[in-house]
Amino acid sequence: MLSTKTIEIVKSTAPVLAEKGLEITSHFYKRLFENHPELLNIFNHANQKQGRQQTALANTIYAAATYIDQLEVLLPAVKQIAYKHRSLGVKPEHYPIVGEHLLLAIKEVLGEVASDEIIQAWGAAYGVISQVFIDVENEMYAEAKNQPYGWEGFKKFVVVKKQQENNLITSLYLEPMDKTAVPSFQPGQYITIRLNIPGETYLVNRQYSLSNAPGEKYYRISVKREANNSTPNGKVSNYLHDLLVMGNELDVSAPSGDFYLNEESSAPIYLISGGIGVTPMMSMLNYLKEKQPSREITFIHAAQNGDVHAFKEEKAKLFSELENAHQSLFYNQPTEEDKKHDGFIEGRIQMDWIKTNIRNKNAHFYICGPIPFMRAMIDSLERIGVYDENIHYEFFGPSINLKEY
Ligand code: HEM
Repeated sequence: MLSTKTIEIVKSTAPVLAEKGLEITSHFYKRLFENHPELLNIFNHANQKQGRQQTALANTIYAAATYIDQLEVLLPAVKQIAYKHRSLGVKPEHYPIVGEHLLLAIKEVLGEVASDEIIQAWGAAYGVISQVFIDVENEMYAEAKNQPYGWEGFKKFVVVKKQQENNLITSLYLEPMDKTAVPSFQPGQYITIRLNIPGETYLVNRQYSLSNAPGEKYYRISVKREANNSTPNGKVSNYLHDLLVMGNELDVSAPSGDFYLNEESSAPIYLISGGIGVTPMMSMLNYLKEKQPSREITFIHAAQNGDVHAFKEEKAKLFSELENAHQSLFYNQPTEEDKKHDGFIEGRIQMDWIKTNIRNKNAHFYICGPIPFMRAMIDSLERIGVYDENIHYEFFGPSINLKEY
């Protein structure tokens, strides 16, 4: 329990920390990796470079400080982060290391403003906040392990099939090396893969949404090739496309994440994706075909053009088997070949189109794609009166609250 005094100090200094949040978290990561380079085996170096991880951490700490006396308000946000931590193997013993470096960074950035009393109050608050994370994560580890065929941490998988979906996207089919079945998952969830890429000093972790339905003996991920081979993301995606071959091994953590289809509901659903954001939608669509083939589904997808529009054939087959599914397709730069065929709308998904075409405000909306795309979709849906709780979205990368960022 924190004393009233500690709570007061933390709340009253939270705005100062928020103002310097990004500076503090940037210092924090610098010091953390100087003193504990082994943690670079867990963190995503691309997110560090883009500053997105720093922003996500700073936002969370500010929110935690503001709600320090009613942390239950933050539980949904904690769960989402905890899913990510669990999928990366973050453990209780890591928390004191992070806490120590966070306090050091606060001192370094705030200088004399950060009196001993303030630092002690923040130390105590960090203890309480981290215990909430540790408890939630311990439950998640136990849940992953206790599932049929489940495991904790990472397990060796083998690439059993590699399939090029188009010029940009390749699917990898992964089966456990010990030939056991794979645990079920919720359509929309992701796995973390951990790779030892030749020439890289540290292990590399990446999350990919599963693109197949639960119930198969493999997990399928579908990876977009990034154009620039020298960026961290480019290196990983090009490695997966060009160098990883059938029979190669990689480490996989059990499916995780809170973006998934609400299976209990039979309400109409809209699956809205931009580009590679289509992957969790394919899992949902495959699942719906098996379990709820008569559910009303509207699949809205935006791609640059027909050449990079993924899963065309698979979707066509699924639509022919689903009883009440419709697709609206948008190409913002159609090719001459595309223009010879119907079946797409030229341009981006505009507010006017949403107003005219989305009439059922009680439907559930699942959105995944690039950040500006998601921001535009969420904003448009809110403007036509869709309730917040019916809008579900997934980031690729550290979560940033789209409405505040
Ligand atoms: C991700 C907060 C402790 C390692 C994140 C994210 C947030 C966050 C907001 C972004 C979530 C997302 O990607 O959706 C916190 C808070 C902590 C804490 C508030 C303490 C109370 C730790 C600890 C570790 C850790 C102890 C382990 C050393 C990571 C990693 C990621 C992550 C590896 C994924 C980010 C990436 O690879 O870019 N954390 N975290 N975190 N956290 Fe934590």
